[in-house]
Amino acid sequence: MNTKNFYVTTPIYYVNDKPHIGHAYTTILADVLARYHRSLGDQTFFLTGTDEHGQKVEKAAAARHMDPKAHCDEMVLRFQSLWQRLGITNDRYIRTTDDYHKTVVRKILQDLFDRGEIYKAEYTGWYCVGDERFFTEKDLVEGKCPECGREVSAIVESNYFFRMGKYREWLIDYIENHPDFILPAFRANETLGFLRKELGDLCISRPKSRLSWGIELPFDPDYVCYVWFDALINYISGVGYLQDDAMFEKWWPASYHLIGKDILTTHSVYWPTMLKAMNLPLPKTIFAHGWWLTGNTKMSKSLGNAVNPMDMIERCGVDAFRYFLMAEMSPGNDANFTEESFIARYNSDLANDLGNLLSRVLKMTLRNANGVVPTPGTLTDDENELNSEVAAAIETMQNSLAALKFDQGIAGAMNAIRAGNRYMEKTAPWTLAKKGEVERLNTVLYTAADALRQVSVLLYPVMPGKMSELRKALGYTGDELSNAKISDLVTCPSDLAGRKVQDTDGLFPRIEVEAKEKTAPSPKLAKEKKSAPVNVYTPIGIEDFAKIQLLTAKIVAAERVIGADKLLKLQLEVGAQHRQIVSGIAPWYAPESLIGKTIVIVANLKPAVIRNVESNGMLLAAKTGEELKLITVDGELATGAHVG
Ligand code: ME8
Ligand code: MG
Repeated sequence: MNTKNFYVTTPIYYVNDKPHIGHAYTTILADVLARYHRSLGDQTFFLTGTDEHGQKVEKAAAARHMDPKAHCDEMVLRFQSLWQRLGITNDRYIRTTDDYHKTVVRKILQDLFDRGEIYKAEYTGWYCVGDERFFTEKDLVEGKCPECGREVSAIVESNYFFRMGKYREWLIDYIENHPDFILPAFRANETLGFLRKELGDLCISRPKSRLSWGIELPFDPDYVCYVWFDALINYISGVGYLQDDAMFEKWWPASYHLIGKDILTTHSVYWPTMLKAMNLPLPKTIFAHGWWLTGNTKMSKSLGNAVNPMDMIERCGVDAFRYFLMAEMSPGNDANFTEESFIARYNSDLANDLGNLLSRVLKMTLRNANGVVPTPGTLTDDENELNSEVAAAIETMQNSLAALKFDQGIAGAMNAIRAGNRYMEKTAPWTLAKKGEVERLNTVLYTAADALRQVSVLLYPVMPGKMSELRKALGYTGDELSNAKISDLVTCPSDLAGRKVQDTDGLFPRIEVEAKEKTAPSPKLAKEKKSAPVNVYTPIGIEDFAKIQLLTAKIVAAERVIGADKLLKLQLEVGAQHRQIVSGIAPWYAPESLIGKTIVIVANLKPAVIRNVESNGMLLAAKTGEELKLITVDGELATGAHVG
């Protein structure tokens, strides 16, 4: 078998506060990916950890009147115990306060200094404590931090600099020639946009007088290393760089650095130039996913609007939580976390569709086949149809794995489950049992059970606990509960017939919610709306118009919405923000023809979910009976500009 080495990382998280759903998401994504690769027979290494130096952590410790290391030792347990609870299968947990990591960072610093890649100079700049980032005057937005909008403080001091600027051309070239280096593709464009401006050198030191919690520079004891320079190195120190050559050779370069879009620049600009200066190859792919939002703002420790994963796990179980996060977010875009959407998805996908098929198959097998999965007889079109739905699900999962679109892989698996339920209704095994049509009954019970068997393999990396239970119910034992391989689904015949099934107590019990009062639309209003004549104007005041916020936006990516031929999903740049809008313009515009257009959007329209895809705003278009044209801007103009 052709096995590969697969190395996946998550960001190392700051220990300034408890982990929240955003951290859980990236770590689960890495875990699911690692488990899939193991199940394909690849040698796999999965690294996660914590980022423990720098001002953020020093401040958090000081606020608790604690020594920074003691604070870290305590906080790190919260991350580690959450990962344990979530069934995370990382091979190593790195802490930047570990001695081996500090040794590697110091060796790298010394080497770069000796080779003139690091030099000393005077520096004037602006610093944002929250983001641990320096900015130049022109980076600031209205005198505030361009990333988070908070106050920044002015700083003049001598510091050490890494000659990052000289790698600008090389990096642009590299990104342009390696389309898989930064994904999704529109994030590569974002990075290129950043690089096209100008690229300065990177300040990599902090004077101890200002910050002492860091790795001391080997060539100047008055300074510690800038936390990002220290942190990025975890990806190589964690796999043996300068310590264990065989290990490093085996795993580097990484297959995937999974990150959130908040830390794109540090990963797509600082890190590649650092590696280039060290003469090391670059990671194959940096994948930046979107944000989990509450309302329309980013969930974050600093903003205090975070959802505590432990609470959700207590209520719904680990596997349902993993399932929801993976199924709900398409990793390129932002997603909204609400309890309602969690419960709705749980009840429909897991309790109803999957739970229902399993309980039907188990009950009928126990009642009518002595509790043993029967051997099938002759297959009819109905079996062939279900089998081909399952085969399609396997293929979709394999493709979505390669493109890191687990939401689509999961949707494919659920399609197969729904096909299984339709199959049961159509073939009606309960009637076959009554009529005594044993061979036909056996065929149906076997085929439905075999669909479940295959889906259990597809969804195992997402829900390892529940899928083991499902396999146990189908008669598997011991290692068979956990070591099934996706690759075997295609190449090995089923080993299901003859197994003794057992009932479960309901794999996914329904979550009951107190019914909320629904406000029914007034029938009178609906009628009035219908009969309103076209092109008769109702005058409004300027204050009404002022409620509508129109902004310019640039289309950076566009794709079709699967299963809806009129809809396109657009990724927009609106000033410093990113937005997703779903629009019914597919009959008039091919997705690729839209990239780069500057259009006008209604920015303050309530978010809506169209065909399961979130839409934040509406674009303006002019329409006659047959034709539709987008409203565009007459010439070049920055995005996010007010229209009115
Ligand atoms: O940035 N939605 O650490 P951090 C989705 N130490 N993902 C989110 C999220 C959200 N609302 N909030 C956080 C750091 N994340 C540095 C990284 S790496 C060498 C150093 C996830 O604790 C996402 O992966 O702020 C994001 O990039 C990361 O947590 C930031 O974690
Ligand atoms: Mg952060």
